[in-house]
This record gives sequence, C-alpha cells and structure tokens, in this order.
Amino acid sequence: TVFPSAAVASQSVAAEIADLIRTKSARGETAVLGLATGSTPTRVYDELIRMHREEGLSFKNVVTFNLDEYYPMKPDELQSYVRFMREHLFDHIDIPRGNWNVPDGTLPREQVFDYCAAYERKIKDLGGLDIQILGIGRTGHVGFNEPGSSRDSRTRMITLDKVTRMDAASDFFGEQNVPRKAITMGVDTIMNARRVILMAWGEGKAPTIRRAVEGEVTTAVAASFLQQHASAKIVLDTAAAAEL
Ligand code: GLP
Repeated sequence: TVFPSAAVASQSVAAEIADLIRTKSARGETAVLGLATGSTPTRVYDELIRMHREEGLSFKNVVTFNLDEYYPMKPDELQSYVRFMREHLFDHIDIPRGNWNVPDGTLPREQVFDYCAAYERKIKDLGGLDIQILGIGRTGHVGFNEPGSSRDSRTRMITLDKVTRMDAASDFFGEQNVPRKAITMGVDTIMNARRVILMAWGEGKAPTIRRAVEGEVTTAVAASFLQQHASAKIVLDTAAAAEL
C-alpha cells in the first residue's frame, strides 16, 4: 500500500495495531506484538501514545517482543534498543514492566544460545506474534537478518554486515565504535507472525524495496521472504515506492 506521506501511512499502521489490542482486550486475551526500532516506526509509536492519552487505549493486556539488540550493549547506553523503546514508547504508555521484551545485550557469550531459545519459547507460549512490524535496512535486512540468513533461522547472535555498520556509524560517533554483533529474531520467527507489516519511507529505501518486493526470494535479501507470507503488508510512502 502506497500512502502520500509517512505520517498518513504511520496512522494507518497504528490504527491496525490499536484495533487488534482493543479486540483482544475485549475478549480478555493478550495481544502479542513484535516491535522494531530505527527511525521508521517512530511515528507509529507517537500515534499509539496519542491514542493512549486521548482515547484511553490501554496496553495492560499487551506483551511485546523487540526484534533485535546490538551485542554487547547495556540497556542504558545511548544506542541501546531498550533505551530507544523506553523513550519512544514504553515509558509513555501503561504497559506493565514485565510485559515488554528486548533481547539482552549484556549476557556473557556462553549464555546467549540458551537465552535465544528461551526468547523463542516465550513467544510460542503466548500463542505467537499477532503482528510483527518491521523497518528495512539497506542490505534488505529485517531485524538484523543480514544477507545469508536462511528461511529457517531463529533468534540468534549474528555478525553485522559492513553496510549496516556504516549506516549505524553516526549513532555511534564513528564506524569503529559500532558493535560487530547483534542478537536478532530469525527469518522464521518473523514468518511465524500471523500478520507482518513492513514500512519504508523516503527515496533512500526505494532500491531495497524493489529488491524485496519484486526481486527473487533469496537469502541475499531477508525481506524478500515476506513475498511468501500469507498476510504480509508493505506500507510505503510515494518516495519509497518510486522504483516499483
Ligand atoms: C536497524 C534496525 C532495523 C531497522 C533498520 C532501518 O538496522 N535493526 O530493525 O529496520 O535499522 O533503520 P531506519 O528505520 O532508521 O531506516
């Protein structure tokens, strides 16, 4: 779906998320959301905060799982995705502290494998992700599923692509400070969500969107696997859709 602007597009994504939360809460059920960081989803979070404040949208029955986190990374560091999510969403809504999950970038290396398996299990035990929202990186990654990530990959530690580290350089005040690793949900974790919404804004994303949407389905572009998802929606502004 192509919208005239990122602002209007973000409102439509927020409305779908709010509908899900209201429907499930009315039934006494938990809404399970997969969340993303980066500049792309921030307006969706702004809109959800507005709905919480102005329309009484409650997140008491919502559990969230973030896609990824740098490794190593402490939660209070400037570039931490825990910090990002608190600043952009969690600290402004009524979600209980125990209900949000962001991969832990502080664990000793030898505990990461078991931690990732537990992250997957926690999602499964709640009945799976109702909606996963996604941005897209220049390598075509979703989460941090860099080129080479297989269709059946699950939550794990990965090595960041050179291009991704370059793109993150300004956040870290220099490429040399960008961590080499990250923990990310896998392609299979994302594909198991009942609904997937990938968003992209601006002309810079147009070539990547073309490869993801019209290119072959390949491990070289993790987002291309969404072509095979039963309920995936790609939400774009006109600039991001320019090469389709
Ligand atoms: C990072 C995140 C991705 C995000 C991407 C794009 O790599 N791990 O989840 O989609 O950046 O970022 P932005 O939305 O700022 O363009």
